[in-house]
Amino acid sequence: MNTVVLDTDTGTGTDATPMALDRPVSPAGASHVHPGVRAYLATSLVLLVLMMLAGLAMRAAQAGWLPVPLDRFYQLMTLHGAGMVGLAGLAGAAIMWHFLSRQVRLSEGILWANFILFLLGVAMILAAILVGGYAGGWTFLWPLPAMSMGVWSPHAAAGFIGGLLLIGVGFLLFCLDSGLAITRTYGSLWAGLGVDQLISGRIDTAHPPVVVASSMSVIVNTVGILTGAVVLVVTLVNLYVPAFAINALLAKNLIYFFGHVFINATIYMSVIAVYELLPLYAGRPWKASRPFYAAWAAATVFVMAVYPHHLLLDGVMPAPLLVLGQIVSYLSGIPVLLVTAYGALMLVHRSGIRWKAPALWLMLAIYGWSAGVIPAIVDGTIVVNKVMHNTMWVPGHFHLYLLLGLLPMVIGFCLHFFAGEPSGTAGRGRGLVALYLVAGAVFGAAFLAQGWSSVPRRWAEHWPQWVAGDQVATIAAIGLVLCTVLLVATVLIRMARPAHVAQA
Ligand code: HEM
Repeated sequence: MNTVVLDTDTGTGTDATPMALDRPVSPAGASHVHPGVRAYLATSLVLLVLMMLAGLAMRAAQAGWLPVPLDRFYQLMTLHGAGMVGLAGLAGAAIMWHFLSRQVRLSEGILWANFILFLLGVAMILAAILVGGYAGGWTFLWPLPAMSMGVWSPHAAAGFIGGLLLIGVGFLLFCLDSGLAITRTYGSLWAGLGVDQLISGRIDTAHPPVVVASSMSVIVNTVGILTGAVVLVVTLVNLYVPAFAINALLAKNLIYFFGHVFINATIYMSVIAVYELLPLYAGRPWKASRPFYAAWAAATVFVMAVYPHHLLLDGVMPAPLLVLGQIVSYLSGIPVLLVTAYGALMLVHRSGIRWKAPALWLMLAIYGWSAGVIPAIVDGTIVVNKVMHNTMWVPGHFHLYLLLGLLPMVIGFCLHFFAGEPSGTAGRGRGLVALYLVAGAVFGAAFLAQGWSSVPRRWAEHWPQWVAGDQVATIAAIGLVLCTVLLVATVLIRMARPAHVAQA
């Protein structure tokens, strides 16, 4: 059986030579993770625990087990939403930078600039929410930031919007640097994505999947962030100059385009961990192919075209856009998910894979992503959406694929590089995966079941008839938090040690 080289570069991003996916096989070697990537991951993991605790507090409040004042609930909801989306972006960026820097020359300065802007943005958002009392939701839906009815001041809203803007600027720099580096090495982002191969028919199976996924993420995220910046700036000015306004429907379109693209891109960046690491455990390379290129090219278009499925309840939207939202919902996540799930199954099938903890987490990610997409597609159907969209069904589907899809990709990456031997080969490691899976599935299912019975989302207080579901979810959330604290503590302690050698 072949063994694929783990990683022998210095991780500084100075090697601009494209590395063949069919790289020579040899025993696993030591691996270096750039300090910037470590900083991204450590920050994401600490924020993850804090944001999970905020989520737990909200769920316990809905369950009637924790007295949380109404205004505090919506502050927590705003903090949790913005924090989780932000940390997911940071973790995804870390994974992408780590692997992309082996293929193209990335700027370490930009890596750090993004990190500093992120921290500044987080500080502003924390101050806006915890000191200023801002509670308008991470979606900052126009004109809510300016119309708090005295609950928060325009300055608090400006702090939140300004914080998002700083974070956006950082990610835009990150995307531009990655895009420039891919263009310098491969000629264009389309070539990075593999579109030229699809057109010419000459398929290069050695083209690195990390370059394909990164090209896609750069394209969609750049467009998304620029769109978000427009509405953020208008909102910011409007807080102090109310006459400077924007059409509310246009604002909603811009916000949901940005929000949808950004959170989806976090998965598209993180899935690179599956392409790069699972082969090390299976002992086979992950080869690019025509369906692989076609799936990523399709996802590039679909992820930007599908956002109207967030606006299916807005009867004033142009009907063709709503129809587009429904149709593309059926297509959007599917191509990449299919090639990834099929590719992963083929990779491990009869490979003699050693099911160490990182490999288990990466496989769990494929399962969780697939499972979470199904209720999303159901919600993307107009007749269903009219009844379900403002219910717990929606947090149900996105928590499923974020908790059981996205986070396991990040955890798999972290355990691979920072858990060292034995990486939780059996026993404790497997037990933790199983507990997390069960807790995550019950947590997501409770949301979905409540959505099924029309329990509204974003309600701080729940009627007595709804509370049983809240209580089940709260217990499951405690399980999730415990697993996560254990994992995060393991990773952070090992990360602080000087040398960590990942063995596949
Ligand atoms: C222990 C884990 C978690 C718990 C207990 C939790 C809990 C909650 C609760 C209670 C809500 C409000 C539901 C409602 O009534 O509408 C919520 C919303 C949300 N959660 Fe989580 N969550 C967890 C993990 C995550 C993760 C991992 C992510 C993303 C990576 C995430 C992202 C969000 C987002 C974006 C919202 C929407 C906020 C809004 O409606 O404005 N959550 N969560």
